[in-house]
Amino acid sequence: MHLPNLDEAKKRTSKNNIYKNLTENYPKAYVGKKYFLRTYGCQMNVHDSEAIRGYLEMLGMENTTNIEEATVIVLNTCAIRENARDKVIGFLGKCKYLKKNHPDIKIVIAGCMSEQPDVIDDIMKNHKYVDIVVGTHNLDDLPKLLLKDLKKQEIEVFSNSDEVIEGFNYVRDSKIAAWVNIMFGCDKFCTYCIVPYTRGRERSRKLENIIEEVKSLKRDGYKEVTLLGQNVNAYGKDIGTSFSTLLEEVAKTGIERIRFVTSHPWNFTDEMINVIAKYKNIMPYIHLPIQSGSNNILKKMNRRYTKEEYLELFNKMKKKIPNVAITTDIIVGFPGESDEDFEETLDVVEKCQFDGAYTFIFSKREGTPAALMKDNTSIATKEKRLQRLNELVNYYSNKSNQKLLHKVVEVLILGESEKDSKKLYGYTDTMKLVNVEGSKDIIGKIVKVKITDAKSFSLDGKYLEEGVEV
Ligand code: 5AD
Ligand code: SF4
Repeated sequence: MHLPNLDEAKKRTSKNNIYKNLTENYPKAYVGKKYFLRTYGCQMNVHDSEAIRGYLEMLGMENTTNIEEATVIVLNTCAIRENARDKVIGFLGKCKYLKKNHPDIKIVIAGCMSEQPDVIDDIMKNHKYVDIVVGTHNLDDLPKLLLKDLKKQEIEVFSNSDEVIEGFNYVRDSKIAAWVNIMFGCDKFCTYCIVPYTRGRERSRKLENIIEEVKSLKRDGYKEVTLLGQNVNAYGKDIGTSFSTLLEEVAKTGIERIRFVTSHPWNFTDEMINVIAKYKNIMPYIHLPIQSGSNNILKKMNRRYTKEEYLELFNKMKKKIPNVAITTDIIVGFPGESDEDFEETLDVVEKCQFDGAYTFIFSKREGTPAALMKDNTSIATKEKRLQRLNELVNYYSNKSNQKLLHKVVEVLILGESEKDSKKLYGYTDTMKLVNVEGSKDIIGKIVKVKITDAKSFSLDGKYLEEGVEV
């Protein structure tokens, strides 16, 4: 048993990465059995779930969306805000009930919640029916734990790691667009954020391994890769290279579409902007979280930039990268945020007219510096601020979508629309969601689509067959 420890999670002493190559094969001990996997949170978790599926299927299991028929239930959890955690705890209630009637079921918790000591305390005391907890740094222990003859609750969580694991057998959700990890962890320590504690120190994958993965995805017919890191700008610092170098090498593989998330405004270099502008297969879309428009709050958040510096970067991107779309993340109600601070946030939204924004009310995370800051703002005020902010944000995302009305855009068609099975869905180069009328044989292709309707969060369009006049 290894339990998470916050002091350990805070440490940033070691600098030497250990590159670990997975080669193990596991016996098919679960043939004929099914697994149910639920993923919460960010793209990093979505991609980790593809590694989890790889293991579960290596053990012989098949996927099911009906939890009642599952032998193994895995919750890949998120800790970023309290509501993510509440959802998991709520879902555990259902698992407890299932386990009561079928004691052979194995319940597994993975992901960022595993790394929180208070969560583990709670699981050990109040959720004894949970069989296995595995941390974010040792996902490769999951098959070993599932093969064990479980006599007690197995908790294997390490709070920091030097390891960079290569060779997961991902079972990917899509055959068209793939996630590619470029680095793990975060050293930024924004004062509200739990990620540097749950994901450990920044560690980069070797450039050649990333390029090899992209080439192999391209050979398998993938049209798009999204390079993943908590802060992609930091890629390569620990191994003597840089994100702009990586991005250029990925572009040279010739894969049709390249995206990356997430970018921190602090060390977004001119080289990065130049590479994005230079290559047609790097999509003109940047997610650039601002978090707040107030310099006072940005400082308390430890964001390392001012409102003015953000605006300068933003304008530079707009000028140098043709047709670039920029989205952001904003937190309202950070401890000590005054009405004036909030007005500064609205002002920045007015100035940037973002293509879209994810907005959140500050959520206190145990163990982070912001959790200890004085917070006198009432929840009602925070909710009002969020509502005002959302109105403004939606106004601008609608405005940016309206610009595409009646235009012809290129869309990578990813599949059938979940809401309307007669329609397909895909994304423009600028990452706008389009519901498309067209036949299924265009799934997996980049096609021309005429936009027929524009809303705040999506566009409707019609597939234009080759050779048809617009
Ligand atoms: N409370 C609210 N929002 C948060 N985020 C990160 N931590 C918190 C928190 N404690 C938001 C940030 C980040 C996004 C992924 O989640 O805006 O960019
Ligand atoms: Fe969290 Fe800041 Fe790191 Fe993003 S850059 S993961 S907000 S600490």
